[in-house]
Amino acid sequence: MEKTLIILKPDAIQRRLLGKIISRFEEKGLQITGMKMMMIPDSLARAHYVSHKGKDFFEPLVSYTTSSPVVVIVVKGKNAIEIARKMMGVTFGSKAEPGTIRGDYAVSNRFNLIHGSDSPSSAEKEIAAFFTKEEIVDYQPIDLSWVYDISEGGMV
Ligand code: GTP
Ligand code: MG
Repeated sequence: MEKTLIILKPDAIQRRLLGKIISRFEEKGLQITGMKMMMIPDSLARAHYVSHKGKDFFEPLVSYTTSSPVVVIVVKGKNAIEIARKMMGVTFGSKAEPGTIRGDYAVSNRFNLIHGSDSPSSAEKEIAAFFTKEEIVDYQPIDLSWVYDISEGGMV
């Protein structure tokens, strides 16, 4: 099953929104398979956002990302990457639709609460950058056969 890296950014912790955001993923039926609190080192923040290197918002983005603790989570499920991105809403809090995490809790374009991997290749790279293999815990959720129809061998 697909895995994606979610980062609950510094503002999510400072604004005490961790529980509300994590609950949304649990309630959706996605599985938490790794989770920890950390300070993101400067070098990791720069590597994580390397595609924006050179843009005017890059340095403030790195400063924000490293300014305060984050919670990093590996979320697992069928189509987890796309589902999580939809749940997050579009990048800017000011533009995100109500009903999404950013749309419900963010107005800022930088302090937008949450990161989610944007493709299978970035998910794989980002999970490896933030977690060791041992920190990802594989277990069978007891409600799997009610979250998905697995009766014919697939996951529908
Ligand atoms: P992340 O989950 O943080 O990766 O956001 P995203 O995938 O929705 O957006 P993207 O990866 O394109 O950009 C990463 C971060 O850079 C965003 O969360 C914004 O804070 C910031 N950013 C992206 N595009 C712009 C822009 O055009 N202007 C400004 N000021 N910030 C931007
Ligand atoms: Mg991104």
